[in-house]
Amino acid sequence: MASMRFSTIRNSLSPAIVAAHDKSCSINNSTAHHGFSFWSNNSTSKRNARDLTVTSIAAPLPVIAPSWEKESAGNRDHVAWTSVRQERWEGELIVQGEIPLWLSGTYLRNGPGLWRIGDYDFRHLFDGYATLVKLHFENGRLIASHRQIESEAYKAAKKNNKLCYREFSEVPKRDNFLAYVGELANLFSGASLTDNANTGVVKLGDGRVVCLTETQKGSIVIDPDTLDTLGRFEYSDTLGGLIHSAHPIVTEKEFLTLLPDLVIPGYLVVRMEPGTNERKVIGRVNCRHGPAPGWVHSFPVTEHYVVVPEMPLRYCAQNLLKAEPTPLYKFQWHPDSKAFVHVMCKASGKIVASVEVPLFVTFHFINAYEEEDEDGRVTAIIAHCCEHNADTTILEKLKLQNLRSFSGEDVLPDARVGRFIIPLDGSPYGKLDAALDPDEHGRGVDMCSINPNYLGRKYRYAYACGAHRPCNFPNTLTKIDLVEKKAKNWYEEGAVPSEPFFVPRPGAAEEDDGVVISMISQKNGGGYALLLDGSTFEEIARANFPYGLPYGLHGCWVPKK
Ligand SMILES: [Fe+2]
Repeated sequence: MASMRFSTIRNSLSPAIVAAHDKSCSINNSTAHHGFSFWSNNSTSKRNARDLTVTSIAAPLPVIAPSWEKESAGNRDHVAWTSVRQERWEGELIVQGEIPLWLSGTYLRNGPGLWRIGDYDFRHLFDGYATLVKLHFENGRLIASHRQIESEAYKAAKKNNKLCYREFSEVPKRDNFLAYVGELANLFSGASLTDNANTGVVKLGDGRVVCLTETQKGSIVIDPDTLDTLGRFEYSDTLGGLIHSAHPIVTEKEFLTLLPDLVIPGYLVVRMEPGTNERKVIGRVNCRHGPAPGWVHSFPVTEHYVVVPEMPLRYCAQNLLKAEPTPLYKFQWHPDSKAFVHVMCKASGKIVASVEVPLFVTFHFINAYEEEDEDGRVTAIIAHCCEHNADTTILEKLKLQNLRSFSGEDVLPDARVGRFIIPLDGSPYGKLDAALDPDEHGRGVDMCSINPNYLGRKYRYAYACGAHRPCNFPNTLTKIDLVEKKAKNWYEEGAVPSEPFFVPRPGAAEEDDGVVISMISQKNGGGYALLLDGSTFEEIARANFPYGLPYGLHGCWVPKK
């Protein structure tokens, strides 16, 4: 490991000092510029110290302070589940190994990174305020930064030192009954819902970069270079609704997403062209059963079709109104309502299949494609997802208390690569099985990516987080070969890796010719950016952050202009 020393005062403050400064809220931005140098004793480092000297950007400390002492107490010290220690930082990282010279651009990762306001601790992983992390690759060098997204929810929390909007599981505490009634009115209008865009980040075909979450108002445009919050992405249409899929399908040509209809259970399938803010309806899917639409955190597409899953884990308006979290939060498990998959033609909006399938629980679809017969006729849709064996307990396992209290007991529920086979011949039933033996990836799989050039097409490889048991959270990176039905796994003791993100090499002929980027949070409080070869799945480079960053969710790639 290369040793390193940080010259800047701001970046070497002890956590206790950070907290003390934050309470005073007396940061003067004019003094916030510091030279920032790294020195390496590693003789393999090819650059001299002068080359590695960069200037850290202004780094005002957060007004709301994660109390480091409290969060570090006992077994709560894994940096993956510890609030980010300051609002922003930028600097060059020393690289061990070689970053391919063709890798030129920026990887952005979004996720909840701040779970504490005042002296109140959030309870669920998904509640935290959005923290963006940037890895900029150029000429074999790596500049990293992180920054909080300035959502209205985050700014209000900072200003008032308390929760002000409804997060995934947290609800603002109201002082009296009248305030509660007002809160209900605000809920129905959407005013009290959060805009904390802490789930994903996408680059639209027109170049705009948007951070997203489940609420439509939580669509926030950011600058991929500075990580500045530029403002809310305002949808200019009149489609309304409060929520959408957190994972739209975004290509250079289009933005496709699903808008659940909570009043008349169903989904609008909508499309937005680059350069516009107007979503246009392709078609509508009516739910087959159940009091509400199934949760559609993500969905897959093929070249010609949009696949709309109807999961028996359904939205629940009653749970939305409750002041305290229910076991399944905003959702309810309705096995009696059955599970369905619908297939809509992208061009016509016509539903070409609507089949019952075995019960399932998935947050993330991996990909889908069209199966053809010898004459080139499409006979079925194959869709892969990270499937939790129709078991909803994973939601409970993602409570921070559970994540922070790993005792060595194997408590991560099993998951598999679910393979849906959806016939297009009018059959009423589809199939669901495991695409490969789940033991190949430790019976854990989630947070997936593929080569984006294979989106909607027949493909072979998927990258995801798997499990090295015993564990309480996915703790490996896995490369899944869907043809050989094998997986190759990367594991390091105590490491919590975030979603492995595949970037193809420009001009590559092979599907797995590229690199896989992940960010690792370490048990000892450290963390690093990791690059694996997409083909061999061997490490090709890593670079330590000056301090470990919390776990993050989803990312995107912004190629150099
Ligand atoms: Fe997600």
